[in-house]
Amino acid sequence: MATTGAALASAMMVNPLDSVPVLAGTADKKKKIAIVGTGSRALGMWSKDVLTTYGEKLEFVGLCDINPGRVEYFKKATGFTCPTFTDFEKMMREVKPDTLIVTTVDATHHEFIIRGMELGANIITEKPMTTDEQKCEAILQTEIKTGKKVTVTFNYRYSPHRSKMYELLRSGVIGDITSVDFHWYLDTSHGADYFRRWHRLKEKGGSLWVHKATHHFDLLNWWIESDPSEVYATGALEFYGKNNSFRHTNCRPCPFKDKCKFYFDMTKNAGYMALYADHEKHDGYLRDGCVWKEDINIYDKMAATIKYANGVQVAYSLTTYSPYEGYRIAFNGTKGRIDMWIEESNPIEKKPYEEIVVTPNFGEREFIKVSPGTSGHGGGDRLLKDKIFGGVKEDALNQAASVRDGALSILVGIAARKSCETGLPVKIKDLTSIKPEVKRQFVTG
Ligand SMILES: NC(=O)c1ccc[n+]([C@@H]2O[C@H](COP(=O)([O-])OP(=O)(O)OC[C@H]3O[C@@H](n4cnc5c(N)ncnc54)[C@H](O)[C@@H]3O)[C@@H](O)[C@H]2O)c1
Repeated sequence: MATTGAALASAMMVNPLDSVPVLAGTADKKKKIAIVGTGSRALGMWSKDVLTTYGEKLEFVGLCDINPGRVEYFKKATGFTCPTFTDFEKMMREVKPDTLIVTTVDATHHEFIIRGMELGANIITEKPMTTDEQKCEAILQTEIKTGKKVTVTFNYRYSPHRSKMYELLRSGVIGDITSVDFHWYLDTSHGADYFRRWHRLKEKGGSLWVHKATHHFDLLNWWIESDPSEVYATGALEFYGKNNSFRHTNCRPCPFKDKCKFYFDMTKNAGYMALYADHEKHDGYLRDGCVWKEDINIYDKMAATIKYANGVQVAYSLTTYSPYEGYRIAFNGTKGRIDMWIEESNPIEKKPYEEIVVTPNFGEREFIKVSPGTSGHGGGDRLLKDKIFGGVKEDALNQAASVRDGALSILVGIAARKSCETGLPVKIKDLTSIKPEVKRQFVTG
């Protein structure tokens, strides 16, 4: 390794509050923003709303995608006036952004994060920061070498009920956390969607251990306030992919429409038709790909035991074909237990609040109701954007996520994937120059 763990740690030890102005501009000096990867996340999260809300402090100066049709559509749909590119280097050299937003396919993030920093930009990257440990190490080293910053957009940390959980855990109401039960359920609509397109391939999304569970592992790392140290995991693909008697390339021309429970009529979604179907001719990207394709090589059920440097142990699972969407989490502590059951799409009955239940070992149970936010991902998306672009310095709940946080969340998933493949536990310290600490370092990108 080019830099030792100690050198890396000290290079990353900065005050989290210093990081915010790096990304937030001012009326006198607007930040110049470029985007690479103009797909649905960039369109929904990082485009018009950002300009409308924070336009006094920033401007969009360049858009890039390998698909020339999609990048032009993005420009039209957003009304942005900046130039479009299919050549990333050309964009960076011509528009010289202060900040680059990376929203490409996961396995390509590192290329743009690294080159973006080398060409002078700070980086806002979507999760997962990257998909394997070598790419992760290269990002860590480039941040040190260039002095630029990587911010990973962990919007899940900002949902009001998750913030409340963080406060309760810090309040000492259940004493010291000793173990966690965490089970996440993706339903037959959202869960199936990961098997339709590039996420279905380990080489593109790193498997759902990385692509999806990075959110969950980041929440755990943040809630527990310690670093993960070891992972043992199992997984299987026994529902989607080859586990069906019929299949086709994608849903629109499929001869099995009438009998397939997973038939997805994309023609009813005008947005998807305009963003994806109209530009298939350039790259063959099928948004309504068949969930029974034989090339699917990710797991559809996963379970892991995760040990933390402070002794906490976690039992985690992810299911991708559940009848409802949501998760259950419970923190066991020396003085009691906190439970939360969140139903995100619920055929039973959606409550107007999220509920957290605190049960002391000796004493009365308390039911805490938390109102959900109105923006995407349980209200997290707006709060995250306010912090990044609005220049909100206050970070009482330590929600700002650094390159180290981005790394530690994917490293749990990478370790889990390796463990599934080898049948052996994997130590986080063996993956990159990051060495797990008993107490989470408050460092940021
Ligand atoms: N934080 C969240 O909750 C959240 C939600 C959705 C997606 N995401 C993340 O956002 C990213 C994008 O997801 P999406 O759903 O928009 O995917 P998408 O497929 O709609 O968009 C990806 C875009 O990247 C482009 N692209 C791929 N390789 C490229 C390359 N080498 N150079 C330039 N462009 C390239 C594709 O043409 C496509 O337009 C992913 O990393 C995903 O994990 C995060």
